[in-house]
Formats: sequence, C-alpha cells, structure tokens
Amino acid sequence: MKTRKIALIGFMGCGKSSIGHFLASGLGLPHIDLDEEIEKRAGLSVREIFEQKGEAFFRELERQALASLAQKTEAFVLSCGGGAVLSPSSRRLLRQAYFTVWIDVPLDELLRRLSQEKETRPLLASADYAPRAEALLRLRAPLYASASRFAHPWRPGETAAESASAIAEKIRALT
Ligand code: S3P
Repeated sequence: MKTRKIALIGFMGCGKSSIGHFLASGLGLPHIDLDEEIEKRAGLSVREIFEQKGEAFFRELERQALASLAQKTEAFVLSCGGGAVLSPSSRRLLRQAYFTVWIDVPLDELLRRLSQEKETRPLLASADYAPRAEALLRLRAPLYASASRFAHPWRPGETAAESASAIAEKIRALT
C-alpha cells in the first residue's frame, strides 16, 4: 500500500477514534485525533471552545488543523470530528489531500451509543438529542458521501478491530 494520509469521517458515535486506533496500529502508522489536535492548538477543550467562542470559531480551527496536517510529509491515520465535512474547503481537503473513508453506521445504532455519552458532545447536550441527531445525520450523510472515497457500512455486532481490518483490506485493494 502506498503511504498516505488516511482520514476517517462519519457521524458522532460511529467509532472513528477506536477504529482509527486499530487501523493505525494495523498499518504501523501514527494515529491523530483531530479534536485533540484542535484542543492542543487552542489550549481549550472542544466543549470550552463551543461555549466560549461558538461553533463557527470551532469550525475554522477544524479547517485550519485539517489543512496544516495535510502538509505533513509522513503518513498517518486521522480520526476527524463528525462535523469536519461541513465546510466546502474541508471537504476539498478530505478529497484531495487524504484518502478518506466514511464509517456509515445506521441511525438507531448511533442513537443507542450516543444515549450513553451525549453529555460530552456540545451539539447533542440536550434532552431532545435524538431528533437533533436524526436531523443532523440527514443533512450530513450526503457530505460524508461526497468527501470520501468509499463508505464502510458497519454491520451489527462488528467490533472496532473488525471494522479496521475490513477498511484496511479495502484501502489495499484500491491503492
Ligand atoms: C462534532 C463532533 C465532535 C466534535 C464536536 C462537533 C460534530 O466529534 O468535533 O463536538 O459537529 O459532529 P466526534 O464526532 O468525535 O464526537
């Protein structure tokens, strides 16, 4: 497989961070989490950035981090935040500078996972998180599709390690 920058995208709760971890170790590459990268640069947590500076400011930091990581010469696996596809210029970067994979998990499974950890996600930290998540997913699904080379459809019962090996195999076949 040619060395490259692999980006994982998909809705909150789809498993980008855990699959990214397994994919990176399977390929012998470093793993970078885009939210952690933004937090390091801003000196604030994602929640603090949303609360103190607003979502638009967070999106700009997200775009900048994606652009500056794209300049790195070495290969790595990047787990993006769920909204990293919102800006057209971020989508362009994901298409051109990264080999981008959409982890496509059905809404009912996402809701099951998010019900246990929605407090950590500023966009879903309210009682009506389920209709909010559904509306956001409807808006974002075409953006995930347009920013990625392929979608990996999660199957019930599939572990993060199994998703990672299936993704690695597909990337190998395509590169
Ligand atoms: C967001 C997803 C979060 C984080 C921020 C915004 C989104 O990342 O970037 O809270 O807009 O979907 P995860 O997808 O890792 O939860």
